[in-house]
Amino acid sequence: MSQDSLNVAQESRGEFEAVTRPDFAKIRAQFPILQQTENGQPLVYLDSGATSQKPLAVIEALDTYYRQQNANVHRGVYGLSERATELYEGSRETVRQFINAESTREIVFVRGTTEAINLVAHSWARSNMQAGDEIIVTEMEHHSNIVPWQLLRDQLGIHLRVLKINPAGEICLNDLKNMVSEKTKLLAITHMSNALGSINPVKEMTEIAHSVGAKVLVDGAQATPHMAVDVQDIDCDFYALSGHKMYGPTGIGVLYAKEALLEAMPPYQGGGDMIYSVTFDKTEYNVLPYKFEAGTPHIAGAIGLAAAVKFLQSIGLNHIAAYEAELLAYATDRLKQIKGLRMIGEAQHKGGVLSFIIEGVHPHDMATLMDQDGVAVRASHHCAMPVMQYYNVPATVRASLGVYNNRDDIDRLVASIEEAKEMLI
Ligand SMILES: Cc1ncc(COP(=O)(O)O)c(C=O)c1O
Repeated sequence: MSQDSLNVAQESRGEFEAVTRPDFAKIRAQFPILQQTENGQPLVYLDSGATSQKPLAVIEALDTYYRQQNANVHRGVYGLSERATELYEGSRETVRQFINAESTREIVFVRGTTEAINLVAHSWARSNMQAGDEIIVTEMEHHSNIVPWQLLRDQLGIHLRVLKINPAGEICLNDLKNMVSEKTKLLAITHMSNALGSINPVKEMTEIAHSVGAKVLVDGAQATPHMAVDVQDIDCDFYALSGHKMYGPTGIGVLYAKEALLEAMPPYQGGGDMIYSVTFDKTEYNVLPYKFEAGTPHIAGAIGLAAAVKFLQSIGLNHIAAYEAELLAYATDRLKQIKGLRMIGEAQHKGGVLSFIIEGVHPHDMATLMDQDGVAVRASHHCAMPVMQYYNVPATVRASLGVYNNRDDIDRLVASIEEAKEMLI
C-alpha cells in the first residue's frame, strides 16, 4: 500500500484524530429515542449489544434516500438510478476504508453477521472442506458462529472443535497452538464476545491458524462499534459485521473476504445482478463483489450504514474506545459493590459489556422490574448458550454500553438493581 493510501486509511479510522476529547453529551443528544420516557421514566438504554440506537445522521440519510434518491441500482440509465448507484457504491468505499480492506471487490453487502457467516459456510467451506477436516471455534461464540458449522459438520462429516475459555472468559493462545494441525481448515472466532465482553487477540490467533494453512473468519458484530478494525493488519481471511450494532440500520451488514478467496468461491445465491449473461445452458457470473449480491440489495441500508460509519469516524474510534473503557471501569466498580452480585466475564481485555447474576434472583424477573424504572437491559442466554453452560447459569442480566451512555445511566442501573433486589429477595 502506498504511503498516501495508508495515510487516508489511517485518517479514516481515526488514527490522526484531534487530541481534544469529543463532547459525549452532545453525541448523546444526537439520538432522538433517548429523549423519550419508558414507564414514565427517562429511558436508560443499556442493550446496545443487541442493537444500537440510531443517530440523526443515519435517520436523515434514510429519510433523504427515500424522499429524494430512491431508484434501483446498477440498471437504470436515467439520472435518479445513476445517483442511487453512486450512493450505494460510495457506501461500499466508505466501509472499505473503515475496515481498511484493500479493495471494494472485497466488500460484500449482506443482511448482517449471520448471513455473512452462512455465506462462508455455504460457499467457501462446502467447496474447500471434506470429511475429517476440522473447524475450531471458541467456547464464547454466538450461536450464529456455531450453528452454521454444525450444519456443515452433519452434512460433510467434518469435526467441530472447541477452544475452551478460563473463568475470566479468556482464551489461551497456547491452547490454540496445541489444537491446530494440518487437519484444521478454519478458525472461526469472535472479535468481541456479546455475552462476556471479552476481546480476543484475533491477530495472534490468525497467525497461529495460518501457520498450519487454515483460514480465519472473525465475527466482528460486537467489535466494529467499539474499536478501530483493520482487516489487513489482522490478516484474517473473512470478517463479518452488522450495521445495526454500529448505529446503522437493521438488515444490512458486510462480509469482507480476501479477493483471491472470493474469486475462487462459487456464488451463494442465484438471481439478478449476480450474473453477466444467462442462457438456459449456461450462466456466466458477474465480477466481484456482485457475484455474491443476488437480487435487489438493501440500498437504503447500505447508505444508512455509510452514514453510521461516518458518524463513528466523526467521533473517532480511539476516542470511543477510551470513553467506553472509562465508563466500563466505573460501572464495574459500582456493580461489584452490590451484595450478592456475581460478574460473569472479567477478561483483562474487555469491551463495554456487564453480564451478571444476583444470587437468588432470576435474571428475567430482575430485568422485568428494571423496565418499570425505564432501564432497558437484556436478560437471556444472549444467543451464547455454551457460555451459560460453562458458568452454570440459565441466563444473565446484561447491560451493554454505547457511545450515548454516561455515568447517570450507570447510577440509574445500580439504583434499579438495588430496588429490584429488595422486592425479589
Ligand atoms: C458476537 C455476535 N455475533 C453474531 C451476531 C449476529 O448478528 P446479526 O443478528 O446482526 O446477524 C451477534 C448478534 O447479537 C453477536 O453479538
